[in-house]
Amino acid sequence: MTLQKLKKKKFLNSKKCTTKSESISLLTIPKHVAIIMDGNGRWAQKRFWKRIFGHEKGAETVRMVTRTSRELGISVLTLYAFSTENWQRPQDEINALMKLLIKYLNTERQEMLDNNIRLQSIGHIENMPADVQDALNRTKEATNHNDGMILNLALSYGGRADIVQAVRSIASRCVQNELTIDDISESLINDNLFTNALSQSDPDLLIRTGGDFRVSNFLLWQIAYSELFFTPTLWPDFSKEEFLSILNHYQSRERRFGKTGDQIKGTDRLSQTNTD
Ligand code: FPP
Repeated sequence: MTLQKLKKKKFLNSKKCTTKSESISLLTIPKHVAIIMDGNGRWAQKRFWKRIFGHEKGAETVRMVTRTSRELGISVLTLYAFSTENWQRPQDEINALMKLLIKYLNTERQEMLDNNIRLQSIGHIENMPADVQDALNRTKEATNHNDGMILNLALSYGGRADIVQAVRSIASRCVQNELTIDDISESLINDNLFTNALSQSDPDLLIRTGGDFRVSNFLLWQIAYSELFFTPTLWPDFSKEEFLSILNHYQSRERRFGKTGDQIKGTDRLSQTNTD
């Protein structure tokens, strides 16, 4: 979305979105934000409720984060909704999560259409129950032409499994003499990952809620240079204020990609002399 459209839509201030406590430059908004939504179970258990109530409340946070991302002009929002490891959870929790996903996909379809959001997914979708696949495919098809933002659900997704399927696909092309070993490069591996089938850039920012400091097999290849943020807030309690505060903090970080700070700022005298 252009700044012009954002101005008309929500943020009347020309280059910034200003809330009570945060001022965010719309010019340096991350293109791709990925989130590990952790803490639903503990949120419910703290209240002596069944874990599924935490997931239900978590689905409301998904709605808030999606809306806010769209309003700010984030291009891709990737949410870790169900990992390859989550299949090991108790069957009743898995069933309840699948039902919740179907409900979400069916009820949010119109909201996605109204807000020009395209739904995509990464992961071994073929392992999801048929009714989840149906709801997913229906929403993907309905939103196929939207170009305002991609909402990318990671379902039955694991970073290692992603790399394995990329390696398999490259190896099979080598066996068929379509590729040689010398053709294998970072960009070829990138092209064969789930994310790249959808032409998505790597996440600029990865947020994990729930207080743990790990990446739990999420987008392992793709987060090589992502900025990481960990918050103790449980996902159902994650608020718009905190999301904006993290985005604000992200904008104060210097992303050097292996270069020096001077090179990034363009104040490296040696490199300036060399280009003269
Ligand atoms: C991790 O919290 C969360 C999940 C395994 C599922 C995430 C699902 C949602 C946020 C809701 C449904 C999703 C969508 C897209 C509508 P946890 O259960 O591991 O929490 P804990 O660490 O406190 O046990």
